[in-house]
Amino acid sequence: MTDKYAVIGNPIEHSKSPQIHTAFAKQAGQALVYSRILGEPGNFAANVRQFIADGGKGLNVTVPFKEDAWQHANERSPRAETAGAVNTLILLDDGRFRGDNTDGVGLVRDLTVNHGATLKGSRILLLGAGGASKGVVRPLLEEQPAQLVIANRTAAKAVELASELAELGSVEGCGLDELAGRKFDVIINGTAAGLGGQVPDIPDNILEAGGWTYDMMYASEPTVFVRWGQSHGASMALDGLGMLVEQAAESFYLWRGVRPETADVIKMLR
Ligand code: ATR
Repeated sequence: MTDKYAVIGNPIEHSKSPQIHTAFAKQAGQALVYSRILGEPGNFAANVRQFIADGGKGLNVTVPFKEDAWQHANERSPRAETAGAVNTLILLDDGRFRGDNTDGVGLVRDLTVNHGATLKGSRILLLGAGGASKGVVRPLLEEQPAQLVIANRTAAKAVELASELAELGSVEGCGLDELAGRKFDVIINGTAAGLGGQVPDIPDNILEAGGWTYDMMYASEPTVFVRWGQSHGASMALDGLGMLVEQAAESFYLWRGVRPETADVIKMLR
């Protein structure tokens, strides 16, 4: 039977993961089938069981199930542990699940490998303290920025997240309303504000001239945060399409032991 993989989320019909993994499989000469599963909130474990009974070997997990997947995993990578969220479930030979989180590596690779950003020694502002932000903090800190500031509308969540990470590097949490007068080289948007067509409420002058912005979201049109970057002096205003493909490549590697080339796949999706 052909190995089966899938992405589970809700909603899920917009997901590009099947296209990405199918392209990776073709490139690597591997036979696999990759589909979408519309998960039912509260029924994650049952949805996973059904998929495995149907021959599933691994899952990507997206909103709103990444914390359910973390719970479901029998063992977890350190980066997943830090994230409190799992986006990749790997079925082990003994029927147990290993949970990993490839989002942060995907973000870092897109910035550094695909676009040549230098994160080491830079001042990074991460907007949001929800699942999207938690997923990327450890790999960001491993790049050894001069500082990582996590700013959230609800300050307490950012302060708590930062305090959990204190031993990994220079990290601080605050409210969006505490950013006045500060400057950052890289601003990463991990909030859900874009879903409502909004940009987080941040001061106009916090991006260093020629700095970079990165929206973890992507769309066929420039996202509102990409447009914010473009109109606030960013030399690079990226969206999350590259991150999406890079996190998928890392998942593919975890499942199949082959690291796919991503450039052509990113180009195809554009
Ligand atoms: P996800 O798992 O996608 O990160 P989440 O855990 O619900 O989703 O977190 C959403 C994040 O976006 C939070 O940091 C949220 O801020 P609050 O913690 O204050 O709710 C942030 N967010 C959502 N809408 C926002 C908006 N309009 N402006 C600023 N931040 C927003």
